Amino acid sequence: PENGSLSIIVLGASGDLAKKKTFPALFNLFKQGLLPSNEVHIFGYARTKITDDELRDRLRGYLIPKKGGSSKDLETVSQFLQLIKYVCGAYDAEEGFRLLDKEISKHEVSKHSENGLSRRLFYLALPPSVYPSVCKMIRHYCMNKTDLGGWTRVVVEKPFGRDLASAEELSSQIGELFEESQLYRIDHYLGKELVQNLLVLRFANRFFLPLWNRDNIDNVQIVFREDFGTDGRGGYFDQYGIIRDIIQNHLLQVLCLVAMEKPISLNPENIRDEKVKVLQSIDPIKDEEVILGQYDGYKDDPTVPDDSNTPTFATVVLRIHNERWEGVPFIVKAGKALNSRKAEIRVQFKDVPGDIFKCKKQGRNEFVIRLQPSEAMYMKLTVKQPGLEMRTVQSELDLSYGQRYQDTKIPEAYERLILDTIRGDQQHFVRRDELKAAWKIFTPLLHKIDDGKLKPLPYKPGSRGPEAADELQAKVGYVQTHGY
Ligand code: BG6
Repeated sequence: PENGSLSIIVLGASGDLAKKKTFPALFNLFKQGLLPSNEVHIFGYARTKITDDELRDRLRGYLIPKKGGSSKDLETVSQFLQLIKYVCGAYDAEEGFRLLDKEISKHEVSKHSENGLSRRLFYLALPPSVYPSVCKMIRHYCMNKTDLGGWTRVVVEKPFGRDLASAEELSSQIGELFEESQLYRIDHYLGKELVQNLLVLRFANRFFLPLWNRDNIDNVQIVFREDFGTDGRGGYFDQYGIIRDIIQNHLLQVLCLVAMEKPISLNPENIRDEKVKVLQSIDPIKDEEVILGQYDGYKDDPTVPDDSNTPTFATVVLRIHNERWEGVPFIVKAGKALNSRKAEIRVQFKDVPGDIFKCKKQGRNEFVIRLQPSEAMYMKLTVKQPGLEMRTVQSELDLSYGQRYQDTKIPEAYERLILDTIRGDQQHFVRRDELKAAWKIFTPLLHKIDDGKLKPLPYKPGSRGPEAADELQAKVGYVQTHGY
């Protein structure tokens, strides 16, 4: 294992993402002994003029357990906070980054005498508009001292651009400064337990191997619902909309894992090669296979323009043009302010040919993978209704993680992904060509929406979204099943 000094630098340390996700994830790793305090130093960098203690005080509330926590918990929080130092500076200011480098180096010196490694992990919890300048500053002033060994890695968050052209521009700017192997583009859906499980499910189970194709599968749904609206993030959200916020990244990544061919090995490059092929095989989206929605009340947010055309809901049918999936619609749906909070994959099988039980009425076989909440997988199948009569009923084979793995705490996505970054494993990060292919699929549609050529339908908060979306799903072949 590598050891020596590990410096984790969170840029944008006083922002929302850092407080809610990055620092809590680091804290969870620390709690599990994965960030040993004799090796690790954490730095917060931002423009706000505050002291180390002020930053620590701001973070404390996000780290202590919701129910207050025991004195031991509070002690662990304090130990963690002591690892954090704050450096104040602008995102394009040489002085700030020189100072940051000086602070990092101070801690490294004492460790180098032992084993010489200097590892620097820069986490950009920042808006993408400042990525190029921040990356330039890191490149010029804050790289690890290579003569001592070790590495410098940079983690960037979405949105990476607004469309194909802007994403490519951003990629080229950053690509001139860092090698692809140093760049970790986070998509936190790739850190979710059941998303990580997809490869195992598909390629380690004989059950699925012969069935996972157009001969047996009728359609696949990938669904994201939230039961709250933009919640004070209206200004940010309005510039992006649901397709850029959720579908082009999170749901498309999930789709790749559901649809990809078996990689030749678990090597991250082999896996990402297969994902790119799926993306490159997706046909252009047809206007008639898109339904957009905007919930009533969305524009009441004072930071959202009165004439906003931004969708808060979308159902899009994606069609993969290859031997495995030709003719199978992938129905991808995401919405805010809906009736529930849920993310799931539904693989719906075709009807049984020559059905002697008339069981079609009971619904089709479905394999459902619930990513959240309450991780689970279940298979809907038709069984005989127990009793004297020969009747069929739809039932479930159910693997609920809460019951089956009671004693295992499922790690947070960010926690896992930060650990991957430290370990240098890029499997669960988006490669540049994947990003490009993903933008290519959605850019024509996004431009039509931006130009007002496609308009969202209104829907009531707390509903299922526009009815037209259910109609589209039914039109392309999804059969609604009830219950479960
Ligand atoms: C983020 C989006 O990437 O994902 C948010 O910007 C969304 O709008 C969030 O709420 C959903 O993440 P999760 O893990 O709660 O499903």
